[in-house]
Amino acid sequence: MKILVINGPNINMLGTREPDIYGKKTYKQLLEYITAYCEQKDVEVSFYQSNHEGDIVDMIQSAYGNTDGIVINPAAYTHTSVAILDALKSVGIRTVEVHISDVDKREPFRQISYVGLYAEKTIKGLGFDGYIKAIEYLLYGD
Ligand code: DQA
Repeated sequence: MKILVINGPNINMLGTREPDIYGKKTYKQLLEYITAYCEQKDVEVSFYQSNHEGDIVDMIQSAYGNTDGIVINPAAYTHTSVAILDALKSVGIRTVEVHISDVDKREPFRQISYVGLYAEKTIKGLGFDGYIKAIEYLLYGD
């Protein structure tokens, strides 16, 4: 199985960014954590992070025909981006949405998710483990 993990804006700042909400571990540590899990499961994983909406759309389009599943934390674009939603619909790749924090318990503007209208599942508030759960779901279902 080939999985693409996409992270949106400011996820590259993990470790520095609001550690009380997102924890003290870095983006590099996140990638190492996911990579170690994928090695165990024989999953071919690749990673993409961007602070730019259009670049994320381009990456989703480039996954067409060569990727079995997408795990995406669209970060702030979760709450605004019809373009990312449409890109996911365009390629038709199975997708799980992940949030490190529990967005349900945060500001009202975080209660809307456009990507959530397409994703098979949304995992929130589990920290880095949410990414593992997302891959587990793509592999084995619920
Ligand atoms: C986030 C939650 C979003 O509301 C926020 O804009 C982020 C990160 C999360 O992982 O908890 O950047 O997606």
